Amino acid sequence: MNACIRSIVKTCLHDGIVPFGIYDGYRGMIEGRGKEMKYSDVDNIIQYGGTILGSARCKEFIQKEGRKKAIDFLRSKNVDGLIVIGGDGTFTGATILGEEMNLPIIGIPGTIDNDIYGTDYTIGFDTAVNTVIDAVDKIRDTASSHHRVFFVEVMGRDAGFIALHAAVASGAESVLIPEEVTDINKLVHDIRNQNKGRRSTIILVAEGDDQGHALDILNKVKPHLPEYDLRHSVLGHIQRGGSPTAQDRILATRMGNYAVQFLVEGRSHLALGVHGDQLITCPIALAIKEHASPNVTYLRLIESLRTK
Ligand code: F6P
Repeated sequence: MNACIRSIVKTCLHDGIVPFGIYDGYRGMIEGRGKEMKYSDVDNIIQYGGTILGSARCKEFIQKEGRKKAIDFLRSKNVDGLIVIGGDGTFTGATILGEEMNLPIIGIPGTIDNDIYGTDYTIGFDTAVNTVIDAVDKIRDTASSHHRVFFVEVMGRDAGFIALHAAVASGAESVLIPEEVTDINKLVHDIRNQNKGRRSTIILVAEGDDQGHALDILNKVKPHLPEYDLRHSVLGHIQRGGSPTAQDRILATRMGNYAVQFLVEGRSHLALGVHGDQLITCPIALAIKEHASPNVTYLRLIESLRTK
């Protein structure tokens, strides 16, 4: 997100527009916390994860009285266009606000989960996947040394994008995602088959899997695999930080620049996206309404690389 904030601020300054950053999302808007941004505020931030402006979940913004405070604040600062970075909740908030105060809004998809409709990739996803790959490579070393089966849990409360992409890229033997029903008997069978003559087995588990978290799944297969040494590891919030990958930096920089251009052109209520190498847009209402699903052919890809 820092790469995106940097791009928005620098594009505005380049084009003679005054960029105003709001701290902690809608909470800062309600509490009247923000500042006019200068080049010096965004120099040397492209390499850092997270956001210099901060982020917050804000229940008060759901209420009209809360939004009234936000509107008063934006008006007092003569804000005449709003760019938000986030997911469905962020986009919904911006849409309501945009309608209530007749303010042009643009949504930039930012979540590690990649589960936003209207884009192939969201800001943060590639970095998270690379963090998972790095962790799985390390777990593979110990799993192989000790002849173990590892259940590695990754984020993705509603979506299996991180698990699926990281599974292909790390050479995991199996992957369990919320979009597919997990069959414990099949998993037991696959683990037995996979483990024949091999030193380790890695199963990536998206935290939103229908059979539960990695430890729940380990406990479900354990009685059927008494001869195996099973372990689990939850990667957790390391997936949401760290220096962003080149792909994320480029995507964020392009989207930030594009968002400013759109506001200048008088366009509004759009969610930005990327398809192939092209930046695209979709109505923000559609991005909120529709659900993004991972490419399940990746599952078949993983299966087709398995031992028979
Ligand atoms: O951003 C979505 C997400 O990454 C989910 O995959 C995960 O369940 C959640 O965030 C964790 O959120 P929190 O930091 O509030 O525990």
